[in-house]
Amino acid sequence: MADQIINTLKQQLQLIDFNKHSFKLAVASIAFNPTFWNIVARQEYHNRVLTKAFGGNSRYGCYFLAFTIFSLGIFRDWLYERALREQASSVLLSQDIVKYAGAACFGIGNILVLSSMWALGFTGTYLGDYFGILMEEKVTGFPFNVTDAPMYYGSTLSFLGTALWFGKPAGIALTLFVFVVYKIALTYEDPFTGAIYAKREKERAKKSS
Ligand SMILES: *[C@@H]1O[C@H](CO)[C@@H](O)[C@H](O)[C@H]1NC(C)=O
Repeated sequence: MADQIINTLKQQLQLIDFNKHSFKLAVASIAFNPTFWNIVARQEYHNRVLTKAFGGNSRYGCYFLAFTIFSLGIFRDWLYERALREQASSVLLSQDIVKYAGAACFGIGNILVLSSMWALGFTGTYLGDYFGILMEEKVTGFPFNVTDAPMYYGSTLSFLGTALWFGKPAGIALTLFVFVVYKIALTYEDPFTGAIYAKREKERAKKSS
C-alpha cells in the first residue's frame, strides 16, 4: 500500500518538467509578489516613501500600491497558466472527479478571496494599515471566522483548483510552492500588523484616560 502510494507520487513527479523556462518564471513571480509588497509596505511604514511620493497623501499612496499588487497578481496568474499549458497532464488527474474537485476548490477559493476583500474594504485589503489607514475594529465575521488568512488560503485554493481542472501535476507542485511562500509571508505580516494595531490601542487608551 505504502509502496503503491510512493510509486504513484513518483510517476506524477516524473511528469513535471522543472527545467521549462515558463515553469521557472512562474516560480519566480510566485516568490516575488509577497516579497515585493512586504518590502514596499515596510518602507512605507518606516519612511513613508509612497506617501511622500504622492505629496503627503497616504490614500493615494495606498491606491497606487493596491494597483501595483493587483497587476502583479494578474501577471503571476497569467505566468502560472502559461506554465501549466507547457506541462504534461496525468491520466490519474484527468478523471471527471478530479475536475469537479478542481472546480470546487476554485469556487471556494474565490469566495474566500472576494468575501475577505468585501469585509476588509479596499484599503484594508491592500495593506492600508502600513499607511496608517487602520480598520475601526478587527474583522471577525465571515470569512475570518473560517480561517485566519482567507485571502492567502483562498488564493492557494484557486491555484490548486486550476491545477486539478487541467490535470497537471506541475500545477500541484506550484500550488505547494504558493502555500509555502504565503506561510512565510504570514510569519512576517501577522506580528507586524499585530504590533501596528497594538500601538493604536495603546494610543487610544492614553487619549481616553
Ligand atoms: C461565520 O459567520 C457567518 C456570518 O457572519 C455565519 O453564518 C457562519 O456560520 C460562521 N461560521 C463559523 C464556522 O462560525
